[in-house]
Amino acid sequence: MSEFSLEFARSLPKAELHVHLEGSVEPLTMLALAERHGVRPPAPDEAGIREWLRFDGFPSFLERYFFVCDLLRDAEDFSRIAQAYLRSAHDQGAVHVEFHVSSSYHIIERSADWSEVLGGVVDGCERAMRDLGISVLLLPDISPHLGAVAAEQALDVVLAESHPLVVGLGLGGPADNWRSEDFGAVFRRARESGLRTVSHAGEHGGAWEVRHALEEFGAERIQHGIGAVGDAEVLTQVVDSGVACDVCPGSNVALAAVTDMESHPLPVMIDAGVVVTLGSDDPPLFQTTLLDEYENARRLCNLDGEGLATLARNSLTESFADAGLIGGWLHALDEVSAN
Ligand code: ADE
Ligand code: ZN
Repeated sequence: MSEFSLEFARSLPKAELHVHLEGSVEPLTMLALAERHGVRPPAPDEAGIREWLRFDGFPSFLERYFFVCDLLRDAEDFSRIAQAYLRSAHDQGAVHVEFHVSSSYHIIERSADWSEVLGGVVDGCERAMRDLGISVLLLPDISPHLGAVAAEQALDVVLAESHPLVVGLGLGGPADNWRSEDFGAVFRRARESGLRTVSHAGEHGGAWEVRHALEEFGAERIQHGIGAVGDAEVLTQVVDSGVACDVCPGSNVALAAVTDMESHPLPVMIDAGVVVTLGSDDPPLFQTTLLDEYENARRLCNLDGEGLATLARNSLTESFADAGLIGGWLHALDEVSAN
């Protein structure tokens, strides 16, 4: 991207709707957290950590992701990483971020005190909201590999600790057990309890996952959704539903969900009329940023300024922020893109 278009992309008020809090930790912060908790780091320095962050697929990525999750032990850690990422997002022109938080990891796998985890995350978000004027919401995620009973238990804990920033339930992690376990029931209960619902689907799996997330989970947004292009009927279903896909091309290449950037289906999705927003997913782990994803989209889809502004507009309108806030951001976006 030329200097001009990078700065143009930065200048667009935008939301990031697909980023994992635990996947936003920079290598230097990983080293500091390891030292703080007396954990042997996977490498002694930043370059070594970056080398360690080269994986050959989803399972080896998840190993690293959960290693980072395990470095997050107390409220101070969570506050620190939330503030750090929100500063970075703000520097890239984000006015709103919806953090996925791996709640079932903390609650079920690590038996952590969720009120401490959430307290730390909220503290970091509130500081960033105050200092930067950025808006933030939280989407606790359940992971299907733990099964539906564990997902119900995690939801119990999330619901017992309600907080105005926690607005939705998500599902992420390996898409195991989708056919054998009833995650639809977990989502129904979340909805009945006033939460919005989103789900990863069609990342490594095919169109079936996307249809399942729409029909069984009632997903209001899909994270990735790229598998939908494998079935014309499902692609049409996504378009007709108006449900947005929060697409992360850099992540899809890093995790070999697509062969290479050139064969990424983003242009097919946009041409078909899917409402697309861009996210960075786990940016330092994939050596990407939100602005890199705007650059990827610009190149892949041959977008002009209005095309980039449409992606930014989608991210604002599809967010779970208050309508009043969205209206103000859209007004600001219109002013930028008119110039
Ligand atoms: N959790 C963190 N990153 C993820 C991804 N890319 N897919 C599914 N779950 C995730
Ligand atoms: Zn994700």
